[in-house]
Amino acid sequence: MASQPQKLTFPSDFLWGAATASFQIEGAANEDGRGTSIWDTFCRVPGAVVNGDTGDVACDHYHRYPEDIELLRILGVKGYRFSIAWPRIIPQGRGAINSAGLDFYDRLVDLLLANGITPYATLYHWDLPQPLQDAGGWPNRATVDAFLKYTDIITHRLGDRVKNWMTINEPLVVAYLGYWWGIHAPGIKDMKAGFQAAHHVLLAHGQAVPIIRANSPGSRVGIVLNPNWTDPASDSDEDKAAAHTADGFNNRWFFDPVLKGEYPADILAILGDNAPKIEDGDLKAINVPTDLMGVNYYTRAVVAADPTQQGGARMEHPEGEYTAMDWEVYPLGLYNLLMRLKNEYNTPPLYITENGAAYEDVMTPDGQICDEKRQAYLESHLAACHRAIQNGVPLKGYFVWSLLDNFEWAYGYSRRFGITHIDYTTLKRTLKQSGAWYGQAAKANGF
Ligand code: FCB
Repeated sequence: MASQPQKLTFPSDFLWGAATASFQIEGAANEDGRGTSIWDTFCRVPGAVVNGDTGDVACDHYHRYPEDIELLRILGVKGYRFSIAWPRIIPQGRGAINSAGLDFYDRLVDLLLANGITPYATLYHWDLPQPLQDAGGWPNRATVDAFLKYTDIITHRLGDRVKNWMTINEPLVVAYLGYWWGIHAPGIKDMKAGFQAAHHVLLAHGQAVPIIRANSPGSRVGIVLNPNWTDPASDSDEDKAAAHTADGFNNRWFFDPVLKGEYPADILAILGDNAPKIEDGDLKAINVPTDLMGVNYYTRAVVAADPTQQGGARMEHPEGEYTAMDWEVYPLGLYNLLMRLKNEYNTPPLYITENGAAYEDVMTPDGQICDEKRQAYLESHLAACHRAIQNGVPLKGYFVWSLLDNFEWAYGYSRRFGITHIDYTTLKRTLKQSGAWYGQAAKANGF
C-alpha cells in the first residue's frame, strides 16, 4: 500500500507514549511478598467482576516486563506510563517495607531507561492495600497519611531515575465507583462516604507533591483527572441546567479544588449533609501548583432533565458510533475539553494520560488483528489533540490506553483496550494493526 502523505505533524517535543496500570497487567499476585489489595478481595465477591475474573495472572507482566519493554521499543514510543502497586511496597498498607517489591520497580525503570523510554509513574491506580480498607479506606483520613508514607518510600527509592510522577489516577472513579455506587472495589454504596473519599484522595495528591519534589529533585509532578465532556440533550433551559449540574459532579468537583482551591458552590449546596468534612488548610494543600496534569478521555455525556429520575436528570444515548464499552466515539469532546481547560482554568502543561477504545477483536487464521475501528478512534482523537495544540493548548504528550489488553476492572478480561493482543491462555503478545499504525505515527511524529 502506498503511504499517504503526512497530514498532521506534532510539535517536535511532543511525547508519544503508552499506558498501563499495575493491577491490570502484573499478575504474580502472591509472589515476592505482595500483600492483598482491595481488588483481589473484590474479584472474589460473587457477581462483582464479569466471569469471576481475577488479577492473579493478568498479563503476567511481573515476569514478562522485558518483553513488554521490547514492545515499547519496537513501537518507537518515548514514554511509558505505569503504576506502582502499593501492596508490593508496603504489604500491610503501613509498616513493614517489602524490598522485593521495590526491586521489581527498580528493574522495570532501569530497563526502560536503558531502552531510551522515559518512565511516567503513577503512585495510585486503585490497588489500595486491603488492611487499609479494613480500617475504613479512603473515607478515613488516616489513609492519607499512609499514602504519604508510601509516597515517601517509593519516591525515595526511584526518585533519582523517575522524573515524571502522577499522584492519583482518576479520583472520581476511586470515590464514586468505589464508595458511592459500589461497582468498583471496595464495593461500598454510600454517597457520604464517596464524597469524603473524594476529598481525601485529592488531599493525598496535594500533600504528596512536596514529598515527591524533595525526594526526586528536578522532577515534574501532577494528578490525573478524567473529565467527561458534558452536553445538554437540547437547548432547553431545563436540559442546560441538568447538564451544568452533571458537569459539576463529573468535572468541576475535581478541577475546581485542584486548579482553583475551591469546591463548586452549587454542588456543595446539592450535597448538603453528604458534603465532605474539610479541615483548615486542606483546600490550600489540594491547590498546590503542579508541573503537569494528566487528562484521561474516552467519551462524552449527554444529559437531559428528567424529574422522574433521582438527581433530576438522565443520561441520553444519542445516535452515533459506540465502542464495546457502549461509550460514544466523540473526539470533538476531547477538543472542547482541552480548550475549556485552557480558557477556564490556568492549567499546567497537559498530557493525555489515557485515550483508547475497546472493540471485539477477531484474530484472522494467520494470527493478525485488523482492528480498523480502534485505529480510527486513535486517529480521530489524536487529530483533536493536534487541533487543540494549534489553538494554543499546552498539550505536551499522549499515552494510548493501553499497551496491552488487560484486566478491565469490573469487566474482567471481557473488554480489550490494547494495541497489543494478549492470548490469556498462552500469554502470547501480538501487536494489532492499530499498534503498528500507532508506532508509525510515533516515529513519524504525525500521520
Ligand atoms: C480508565 C482507567 C483505566 C482503564 C480505562 C479504560 O478509567 O484509568 O485503568 O480501565 O479507564
